[in-house]
Amino acid sequence: MSRTDGRGLVLDEKLLFERTDPGRIGYSLPTSDVPAASPDSSLLRQEITDFPELSEIDVVRHYTRLSTWNYGVDSGFYPLGSCTMKYNPKVNELAARLPGFAELHPQTPDHLSQGALELMHVLQQDLAEVSGFPAISLQPAAGAQGEFTGILMIRAWHEANGQNRHKVIIPDTAHGTNPASAALCGFEVLPVSSDGVLSKEAVAAVMNEDVAALMVTNPNTLGLFESDIREICELVHERGGLVYCDGANLNALMGISRPGDIGIDVMHFNLHKTFSTPHGGGGPGAGPVGVVEKLRAFLPVPVVVRDEEGYRLDYDRPQSVGRVKGFAGHFGILVRAYT
Ligand SMILES: Cc1ncc(COP(=O)(O)O)c(C=O)c1O
Repeated sequence: MSRTDGRGLVLDEKLLFERTDPGRIGYSLPTSDVPAASPDSSLLRQEITDFPELSEIDVVRHYTRLSTWNYGVDSGFYPLGSCTMKYNPKVNELAARLPGFAELHPQTPDHLSQGALELMHVLQQDLAEVSGFPAISLQPAAGAQGEFTGILMIRAWHEANGQNRHKVIIPDTAHGTNPASAALCGFEVLPVSSDGVLSKEAVAAVMNEDVAALMVTNPNTLGLFESDIREICELVHERGGLVYCDGANLNALMGISRPGDIGIDVMHFNLHKTFSTPHGGGGPGAGPVGVVEKLRAFLPVPVVVRDEEGYRLDYDRPQSVGRVKGFAGHFGILVRAYT
């Protein structure tokens, strides 16, 4: 049994059967102080071919070494491409493993999953509070899927207003997923050169009635704050477009300013960056998306709502862009973010 992992370590471990050393034994019993008894011979096992003979410490060390092959927060952080803001506290894992959360079947009826629904509802409110967006969907499975969901909502909004805008402006500082999401939603990507920080003039030169939205990251991928963002949002709105903010770098803003207050219409959160959840090696993630009031009707279904009878999943949303992920998204990740 051997394995080479991505860190360049060669993890070789012989099978216990290969480590056998005749005469070794894994236990030592005290001298018996009662007469020996002979069990019925039919109960005795015959010779076991090649059964390993090992000391206790051989066995303990063998299994301990094997246990280190499991990747976990004790041996490294959960890596993911360019995402560097990583902190995965173990208390999150503890919360996600609480039986009431971990063993809840996703098809449990609403009246029997009030605790889980309440957690999602409160998390929605918390994300709304820190971002300034009144409506949140927790459903998208990652930042990129949050972008996709946000752009779908922008498209649906324009369509509902009888507009056929088919371009999205994306500055050259954008993360690669931005143009990919826009293209996947059927938009033509209109790149703008930003000189590090996007200028109002650069946006003004390309913003016309063909453009559905500007997609911008703040602070951007160069680590620079988009200092003209408020004026740029005003300009895009004046010309009938919407502004999408890639919220992957929200760490730098949270608690200081709220994207919803400065003119952004849609933003995704990378919970694995700002809210200490894992999302590495292709594992499950969560990329909730927040929207301004006029886009609320387009959120994916179901939406967690609260009424006089308690919490429930609301599917009755005729303008919704539909479902983007199974059930209510990656619930275990939401529990970690809430924690
Ligand atoms: C700026 C930016 N936007 C979007 C994403 C995409 O997020 P995810 O990997 O969760 O899809 C990332 C992730 O690296 C990012 O850094």
